[in-house]
Amino acid sequence: MKIGILGSGMMASAIAPHWIGAGHDVVVGGRTPERAQQLSADLGVEHGTLAEVAAFADVALLAVRSEGLGETLDLAGASRGTLAGTTVIDCGNAVHLGDYSQVRWDGRSLAEEVEFRAVGSKVVKAFNLCHADVWRTPTTYGGAPLRVPFCGSEEARSVARPLIELLGDPLDIGDLSQARHLEAMAIIMIRALASGQTPLRSAFNLLSADG
Ligand SMILES: NC(=O)c1ccc[n+]([C@@H]2O[C@H](COP(=O)([O-])OP(=O)(O)OC[C@H]3O[C@@H](n4cnc5c(N)ncnc54)[C@H](OP(=O)(O)O)[C@@H]3O)[C@@H](O)[C@H]2O)c1
Repeated sequence: MKIGILGSGMMASAIAPHWIGAGHDVVVGGRTPERAQQLSADLGVEHGTLAEVAAFADVALLAVRSEGLGETLDLAGASRGTLAGTTVIDCGNAVHLGDYSQVRWDGRSLAEEVEFRAVGSKVVKAFNLCHADVWRTPTTYGGAPLRVPFCGSEEARSVARPLIELLGDPLDIGDLSQARHLEAMAIIMIRALASGQTPLRSAFNLLSADG
């Protein structure tokens, strides 16, 4: 698959190696070209501008801070349809750190806002519940892999599922309206991490029926 990474921070560096290791064709872009260049060198893949990465990608990982969402999508040309037909996996979170309330855009979750702004894209929400260090070195919990809740349209979920399987056990929770719940759950985790909890010991433990 041709995978574009929009963002060159912690989550990008934690998730992309699993897809590269599986043989996918990955290109990295970010707001700051030097950072994207450094990450692509570290990962041994190509880099490009956000617009080039958007044009390249069949699947994109959007891994940017929520305050940078507008700038990132603008630089990617998303309102002009550069991500049309692309499955965009959004791992972002949006929280007011003052009172740990959820940020919304006219009632929309972050993932819904991405789909709203990125004309023609199909967004999947995934990976937002755990610290980047958990994704960097996925481990097992009581012998079972971490369950990874994800949501989006049926078509988008079917595209994202094999990529999620490279990091954990996908848990299909339905359409993109469910992203608001994942983003709310993450606030509990962010608060725990802010109070000093160790990242690698912090994950919602969603057990499968046979796990
Ligand atoms: N870190 C975690 O453990 C974790 C876990 C789960 C979910 N998340 C979520 O995943 C997303 C990415 O997190 P991260 O830790 O990878 O973030 P990060 O390392 O701080 O930065 C990721 C990217 O966001 C861009 N960015 C930051 N502020 C920006 C702004 N004001 N305007 C435009 N671009 C901006 C950065 O661009 P520059 O390089 O130019 O600064 C960078 O490419 C966030 O929504 C976060 O809430 C993070």
